[in-house]
Amino acid sequence: MPITWPKDESTTEELDGSAIEFGGRRIPSRYFLAPLAGYTHHAFRLAIRELGGLGLATTDLVLATRLLSQHPKSLELIETCSADCPLSIQIFSGKKDQLVLAAQWLEDHGYQGVDINMGCPMAKVNSQGGGARLMCDSTEAAELAACVVAAVDIPVTVKMRLGWDAESISAPLLARQFEDVGVAAVTVHGRTRQQGFHGQVDLEGIRRTVEAVSSIPIIGNGDVRTPDDAFRMRRETGCHAVAIGRGAMLDPWIYRKIQQRLAGQTPIEPERDEKIRFLCRHFALMTQQHADYSCVLFRKFAGWYGAKLGIPEDLEDRLRRFESVSEFDAIVGEITERYGTRTTSIPTALIRVPNGPVERW
Ligand SMILES: Cc1cc2nc3c(=O)[nH]c(=O)nc-3n(C[C@H](O)[C@H](O)[C@H](O)COP(=O)(O)O)c2cc1C
Repeated sequence: MPITWPKDESTTEELDGSAIEFGGRRIPSRYFLAPLAGYTHHAFRLAIRELGGLGLATTDLVLATRLLSQHPKSLELIETCSADCPLSIQIFSGKKDQLVLAAQWLEDHGYQGVDINMGCPMAKVNSQGGGARLMCDSTEAAELAACVVAAVDIPVTVKMRLGWDAESISAPLLARQFEDVGVAAVTVHGRTRQQGFHGQVDLEGIRRTVEAVSSIPIIGNGDVRTPDDAFRMRRETGCHAVAIGRGAMLDPWIYRKIQQRLAGQTPIEPERDEKIRFLCRHFALMTQQHADYSCVLFRKFAGWYGAKLGIPEDLEDRLRRFESVSEFDAIVGEITERYGTRTTSIPTALIRVPNGPVERW
């Protein structure tokens, strides 16, 4: 018997399940993949897209200067293919000129959308004036966005937080200014920079940002883990689309389930074989880009996938340490045999158990 997703009381009737258009692009679903540095690479995006229901995906943040100097790591981050569409490339810098040049470079190389990061809370990004630091000076931020918009024909979007801290909630003002200068859409993570990833997402703050603009879409983001969370985000904030980050790693089928719910169906949990196919597919796609180094890159997905994919704890631990493709295959064989013997449904990644040296995580 397939396991079915618990039915909830909320209705999806009033939610618009249709495609969304902005910046001249038609995005087939309103449920997007939020950028997650270190995770939202080509292989992950393709594997998730193949499950169905995903709208726009955005790459990890790419430092503008590194893109311009053709740094191999940056070129890896922007690697894509015709199946990896629609896609936006996220760039960051504290310097206007660098963002402009990077956006032009992306347009010249055929990319269809550019997203400016104004939400990253990391000190090394903020200390150079990039990421969430840009939200501290709304005039400067709007001018920067205006320059990038003027420099390219492809749509320019911005991803930001509610503000720097609780005393400086600048998202509504900024969103309005971005709209005025031609930004095509704005994603808002409903936390301040000071909150990092702590505390509750403030849906009211996102709603105020939605109300501040008149025609561009606002994409709500933060803590969406289930279709119900996504519908609640839309209903309570009025946002036009939802970007899901960690929720897509905890449940790669979330987009498909959302579409099933919008179609009035009860989403069906994938069964063992589909889950294992997904695990293998993600790894195989990764090896196409990174060959044997995939064994290192894939390890950090173990703690996110373990619970949903029904991987017994000791095998999840082995996935965190495996060294070769043949070892991966052997672990998959054991997962198939021992599927369903996991003792906890809580994802390890949420418990954040320190598990050996960080480079092995
Ligand atoms: C590991 C990790 C990496 C992230 N990398 C980026 C990034 O490169 N660019 C960005 O705009 N946001 C980044 N974020 C923020 C997410 O896009 C998102 O705003 C945040 O995680 C809240 O949404 P979620 O609860 O759906 O994950 C990152 C978050 C995490 C946890």
